[in-house]
Amino acid sequence: MPKYRILVTGSSGAIGKAVAPALTAAGHYVRGFDLSKSPNIEDMHIGNLTDMQAIEKAMDSMDTLVHLGAESNDCDFMSRLLPANIVGVYNVMDSAKRCKLRRVILASSMQVYNGFWKRRKPPFKIEDGAAPSNHYGVTKIFSESMGQMYSYKFGLSVIAVRIGWFTRTPKELQEMTDSPGAQNYFFSHDDAGRFFLKAVEAEGIEYCILPAASKWNTKEVFDLEPAKKAIGYEPKDTFPEGLPFKLQNT
Ligand SMILES: NC(=O)c1ccc[n+]([C@@H]2O[C@H](COP(=O)([O-])OP(=O)(O)OC[C@H]3O[C@@H](n4cnc5c(N)ncnc54)[C@H](O)[C@@H]3O)[C@@H](O)[C@H]2O)c1
Repeated sequence: MPKYRILVTGSSGAIGKAVAPALTAAGHYVRGFDLSKSPNIEDMHIGNLTDMQAIEKAMDSMDTLVHLGAESNDCDFMSRLLPANIVGVYNVMDSAKRCKLRRVILASSMQVYNGFWKRRKPPFKIEDGAAPSNHYGVTKIFSESMGQMYSYKFGLSVIAVRIGWFTRTPKELQEMTDSPGAQNYFFSHDDAGRFFLKAVEAEGIEYCILPAASKWNTKEVFDLEPAKKAIGYEPKDTFPEGLPFKLQNT
């Protein structure tokens, strides 16, 4: 297996902190990019996604991008989502094209399905399309479309990942514990490491959207088959396995 040189944006965030060590442990070289320093990454570029020059500098000598950096919840569009999730995606995709990266992996979200919940029964499939119910979800559709356009027009290999609920903190774990339905879109830290490693290493991908979650707790809500077929990902954890922390009161 070739060893890749991977730029991870959002490397100081919750998913970045789970994914970067998994890539390093598999022998790949990881450089981080974020607003602040990431733990355990020596080669770190501090910068803003709105700064094209800083991104291009960070991509220098890299061959793969895992783009996690973003406003990761719904928030004010003009002041927060527009710069980080729209301008930021334009900046990383256009830099990736110029730097001729071999693979770009974009963090999308299962929130692109939120508008479906009252209208149709799960499981939701990629071919169902999307129905975002907030501006954050719309920015994730934008990033998927940007990935597809840069792939078809400029030949970049792009995987857009519709991530389930990756519980960031013991507080979020408590919220998930208190709402059993939500446990069906749980994405464990260990499964995230395994998923992104497969996404980096898979061969023969032009453009695809893939779902990313752990095993179902009670009922299937997203069809994970496309991820198995395209990159060989099979979840190992069922809620609440594969987390680096436990509930606060246990
Ligand atoms: N956690 C989840 O359940 C979940 C679910 C679906 C999708 N996602 C997506 O996965 C990605 C990572 O999510 P996370 O849970 O780690 O979120 P997070 O908020 O913990 O991390 C996001 C990181 O991006 C960085 N960032 C934000 N704006 C930036 C900017 N302008 N310039 C540089 N860096 C910036 C932040 O500093 C932070 O370290 C995001 O794109 C998010 O939308 C997360």
